[in-house]
Amino acid sequence: MLEKLSKWKSTISSREKNKDIDDINVPRHIAIIMDGNGRWAKLKGLPRVAGHHEGMKVINKIVRKADELGVEILTLYAFSTENWKRPKTEVDYLLKLPERFLNKELPTLIEKNVKVRLMGSIEQLPEHTQRAVTKAMKETENNTGLVLNFALNYGSRYELINAVKDIAKEVESGSMSVEDIDESVISEHLMTAELRDPDLLIRTSGELRLSNFMLWQVAYSEFWFTDVLWPDFNEQHLVEAIAVYQKRARRYGGV
Ligand code: FPP
Repeated sequence: MLEKLSKWKSTISSREKNKDIDDINVPRHIAIIMDGNGRWAKLKGLPRVAGHHEGMKVINKIVRKADELGVEILTLYAFSTENWKRPKTEVDYLLKLPERFLNKELPTLIEKNVKVRLMGSIEQLPEHTQRAVTKAMKETENNTGLVLNFALNYGSRYELINAVKDIAKEVESGSMSVEDIDESVISEHLMTAELRDPDLLIRTSGELRLSNFMLWQVAYSEFWFTDVLWPDFNEQHLVEAIAVYQKRARRYGGV
């Protein structure tokens, strides 16, 4: 009885916390450019990697909240194809984070029915990163809850070049004609083939650009930018972003 009462109380309090948003119109796919880790660390007089470590801790909170709100897909830009240009120590650190995160969180993700997915070129990643991500994908492949899509060694232009090459090969081999190429053909050749496009794109840290992230897929997404640095981003910021999204009229070019 007591247990039931406390469960009920926590449902009520989470509803109260989410009172700014309408349960029905929650964005089904949210994509986040997690930016500002370096500046966060600098402001605190810490090395940049401390910002990345703090940023990793935020992921957990946001996954839980997104799941609680009924978001179906959460895509997180964790490492871009351009991030290799950073100092080796920082790159090495960043590429250890997926393993560190998954070592700790995989059992909870499994319990929560989360399906881990990767978007990016896995072959160029260090073996330990590949192992951790592959294990997580395998162990969650039959899960039917939130899809947690990590963009890791991901770049949208690279993705588009590969899609064009694959389509060209199919045309060359005669299995497709040029006239068959339409939006759905392009979408099916991207790394998001079986995912719907993001409904909402969030970028933290005050930068107003896409940085080679899902250029095709965000054609009709709503954008929400915040000055909050990623390590300071929390559940209430996510709720705020969704509340703003719900006030927008999505017209897809219509009236
Ligand atoms: C951009 O901030 C952030 C990144 C390049 C890395 C984001 C990675 C995480 C938040 C953790 C990843 C964890 C897992 C589990 C995959 P920045 O360093 O460019 O910040 P700055 O613009 O302030 O310098």
